[in-house]
Amino acid sequence: MTADLLDRIMARLTFLAPLGEFVHQWLAKLGAQGGSRAGQAKDLLNGTWLSHPLHPALTDVPLGAWTGATLLDLADRGDGGGLSQAADLMVGLGCLAAVGAAATGLADWQDRDGPERDLGTAHALINTGALALFTTSLGLRLRGRRRPAVGVSLLGLGAVFAGAYIGGDMVFRRGIQVNRNAFVAGPKKWTAVADESEVVEGSFTRKQVGKNQVLLTRLKGEICAAGAVCSHAGGPLDELPLEDGQLHCPWHGSRFQLRSGQVTHGPATAANPVFDTRTNEGKVEIRQPQS
Ligand code: FES
Repeated sequence: MTADLLDRIMARLTFLAPLGEFVHQWLAKLGAQGGSRAGQAKDLLNGTWLSHPLHPALTDVPLGAWTGATLLDLADRGDGGGLSQAADLMVGLGCLAAVGAAATGLADWQDRDGPERDLGTAHALINTGALALFTTSLGLRLRGRRRPAVGVSLLGLGAVFAGAYIGGDMVFRRGIQVNRNAFVAGPKKWTAVADESEVVEGSFTRKQVGKNQVLLTRLKGEICAAGAVCSHAGGPLDELPLEDGQLHCPWHGSRFQLRSGQVTHGPATAANPVFDTRTNEGKVEIRQPQS
């Protein structure tokens, strides 16, 4: 399936947008009812605690287990020996892990909209279909019906590969869920970026420094410089006021410590870049952190 073909298929699947909107609103209501606990659960599923998205790590388990099970099925001579048992175990393991992968994917999907959300909906539907097929296969295996079970597994494997293709397209072609600050480094040497008088407590000054957007402000008098773009999806970190020394992204609510860049609330998982600062002859200078 080429990327072009995928785009053409997606343009025809007009049911994805209303379906996605319905599920999105339902999840939003659930989140609102759950209050801060729902927020903590979502951080857990997004992988904020891990400083890495959790979903791609978990998807490897069902993909690997189901692929391994299918290979064992193909090598099996149908005598109910060790290969059959190992294949059945792998199918079961894949089904269990797929539930976790689905939950983490749903948490990531909830913060997307437009064509990105539609693509995520297609990805989720195909992978849910794959899970249903492997669950059916597991049921058939438990009843001793190996031949149809292997056939259903093969169908499931085709579905999960199609779902994985779309997942890869989302990340590598569309840049969904990648750290927006992956290439932000800041100047190696002290570089003047603003007049000292421009940087005041209670507001932000945004500057273009090389290829990067940097925000400047004061916290308890100390001049601080940090990335101005949210690592999650590129939201502006200088639109909302500082709260408890934290930057607050208006798009999906991620929060970062101004001084350290540490993520304190997701869905972001990657820290915000921070820079060393000093004043020199009335100018504010910044550079990459030295430690
Ligand atoms: S862009 Fe999503 S939380 Fe900032």
